[in-house]
Amino acid sequence: MERAQTRIGHVEVDAPVVLAPMSGITDIASRLIAKSFGAALVYIPLISAKALCLGSRKTFDLLISDAAERPVGVQIFGGEPDIIARAVEILNSHPIDLIDINMGCPVPKVAGHAGGASLLRTPKLACEIVAAAVGSTNKPVTVKLRAGWDESTINAPELAQMLEKAGASAIALHPRTKAQGFAGKADWSLITLTKKNVNIPVIGSGDVHSPNDARQMLEETGCDLVMIARAAQGNPWAFSRTLTLLERNELAPEPSQSERLHTMVRHCTLLVKYEGERTAALKMRKHAAWYVKGMKNAAKAREKINRSKTVGEIIDVCQAMVGEWHESCSSDGGWKCFATTD
Ligand SMILES: Cc1cc2nc3c(=O)[nH]c(=O)nc-3n(C[C@H](O)[C@H](O)[C@H](O)COP(=O)(O)O)c2cc1C
Repeated sequence: MERAQTRIGHVEVDAPVVLAPMSGITDIASRLIAKSFGAALVYIPLISAKALCLGSRKTFDLLISDAAERPVGVQIFGGEPDIIARAVEILNSHPIDLIDINMGCPVPKVAGHAGGASLLRTPKLACEIVAAAVGSTNKPVTVKLRAGWDESTINAPELAQMLEKAGASAIALHPRTKAQGFAGKADWSLITLTKKNVNIPVIGSGDVHSPNDARQMLEETGCDLVMIARAAQGNPWAFSRTLTLLERNELAPEPSQSERLHTMVRHCTLLVKYEGERTAALKMRKHAAWYVKGMKNAAKAREKINRSKTVGEIIDVCQAMVGEWHESCSSDGGWKCFATTD
């Protein structure tokens, strides 16, 4: 089957599976890995519009990206149209393809300042924010929504329609309410309704745990793209296996332990390249735990990984755990032989 293309404004997304923005997780290494496994779109997550305007060095560091991950979106948050507009102007000179506005984040740091999920309760302000962003850029502006603030105020399908009129080029929807957090199930019927209400692409998010879930979401809701979040943690095969299912109607086998470890090492290498050894070692604690999940002795390995101070130590733990490291590797300087230049 030929790959379906979706256009978000002028940006072509050449497969229906994308990596969801996950704050603190979808760093540049995760995005590059996801991309290499077939994610058609990735996002730099949750950048404060205000911090951008204030020139925060830490915030600008989060914007570092690589040509290989394009198309890439930057997700910003904020509750003031003029600040959003200024932040978008700053982003105009960055090599990114689209700007996403977060209207779903429930954490107080975001939703407590009129941004994130708070905007679900203030549709007029939400539209002003989108209009301000659209007026400040030629890049497509998209919005990521939750279902609504709480069970009694579910409004995503109607809000999506309003945001389209305000100039949004696509809507991503995680159909749980802000009050729900991650409890209960994502209500995919709201994705169906949203898709019926708008003429721009709709990206479905929520409870896609397997390639079959992804196919089911596409078929059941009619959404254009499926977003994978938690199921992609330490599991970039979520993308390749979903694409295989969609394109060839085949369910590819789960990756072997060796494949998982090789990919984990690649992940480490990329983190070291972009963020330095110290940050990489800290970040790899989380990622490595996901990569080894389900393997024999994973709990013990996780404990050791959490005590590790260098990526080399982390990889040693995994190496010992699997006990089947390639001869060529150990005779060639340990894990470094897997280093790639990507
Ligand atoms: C750890 C974590 C961080 C997240 N950070 C963001 C974020 O920065 N921006 C956002 O729009 N959604 C964020 N989300 C929500 C996801 O993008 C996604 O909509 C949600 O997890 C449902 O998808 P899933 O069932 O595939 O996990 C985050 C989710 C998780 C688990």
